[in-house]
Amino acid sequence: MKSIDKTNIILTGATGFVGSYFKLKLDSPNLFSTSKSGGANVNPIDLTNKDDLVKFFEFSKPDILIHIAGNKDVGFCEKFPDEARKVNVTATKYLVDLCKKYKTKFVYLSTDYVFDGKRGNYKETDIPLPSSEYGKMKLESEEIISNSGIDHIIIRSGALYGLNGKFYQWAVNSLRDGIQIEAIVDSYFTPTLLDDLYDITLKLISNHFNGIIHIVGKNKVSRFQMISKIADSIRILDPKLKPITIAESGLFFMPDLSLCPDKLNKELNIFTHTLEEGLEYLASTSKN
Ligand SMILES: NC(=O)c1ccc[n+]([C@@H]2O[C@H](COP(=O)([O-])OP(=O)(O)OC[C@H]3O[C@@H](n4cnc5c(N)ncnc54)[C@H](OP(=O)(O)O)[C@@H]3O)[C@@H](O)[C@H]2O)c1
Repeated sequence: MKSIDKTNIILTGATGFVGSYFKLKLDSPNLFSTSKSGGANVNPIDLTNKDDLVKFFEFSKPDILIHIAGNKDVGFCEKFPDEARKVNVTATKYLVDLCKKYKTKFVYLSTDYVFDGKRGNYKETDIPLPSSEYGKMKLESEEIISNSGIDHIIIRSGALYGLNGKFYQWAVNSLRDGIQIEAIVDSYFTPTLLDDLYDITLKLISNHFNGIIHIVGKNKVSRFQMISKIADSIRILDPKLKPITIAESGLFFMPDLSLCPDKLNKELNIFTHTLEEGLEYLASTSKN
């Protein structure tokens, strides 16, 4: 493969939380960034419009597609599955067809929600059984890609956190303002530093990895533990945290969506950071 700065890359979702970080880091003349509404150096391409996609592939002739765009609003996907399917599934079909035609490697960002969230520590070899419309759509896209015969990487990650993340920023602001936070104690997940996701994705691309991989942080925590650790990292000594259960919250949370990173660690010898390391890094970066 050509070196990454000589490789034509289409990046989707480049205005979103995850995609905008990838865009910032990739920063190459051969990067073709897209999102629905567009922006500075971001082409406005609606992925549900096949004709526009055909023209865009012909123009950019990508070696790699990094497909991050999607609708991850679990509540919206439950209420309006037909609408959400357009970007979460139909667009994937269009993109797979075009990747076949242009011999483009398909890098897809999937999610822990492909599992039912009952027992956690899911491996790549476990059979997914999504319990939400969002999870079903992401799994369907995974299957379209893996059954297509094209070169691909399917990355499952979860609860990405980073400086511009809504959850992280909300937690930091609420903790600093002394606002009481109701934090769920019986819903576990494996939060993942966005920087780790980016670095490892690039490593897998340059190592010609093909297949499915879980990229998650080292620690499984509850939301309560996560917010407590954010408080520690920004030196809030007496955070106003009220422990509540999923049942008390009345919200759509699952008991355990954690993913197991053994394949990444043991087979590929690649490691993510601990939650403490990630949060300390963010706290020190935001001070600079
Ligand atoms: N955030 C996480 O913790 C996490 C974890 C695992 C997997 N993921 C996956 O990562 C993806 C992105 O997450 P995010 O947090 O970055 O979401 P986000 O901030 O909501 O960004 C969504 C992006 O998708 C674009 N988009 C939506 N509909 C589109 C369409 N019809 N055509 C073209 N672009 C469209 C948006 O463009 P506009 O801004 O122009 O509308 C935006 O750039 C999702 O697919 C999700 O499944 C996220």
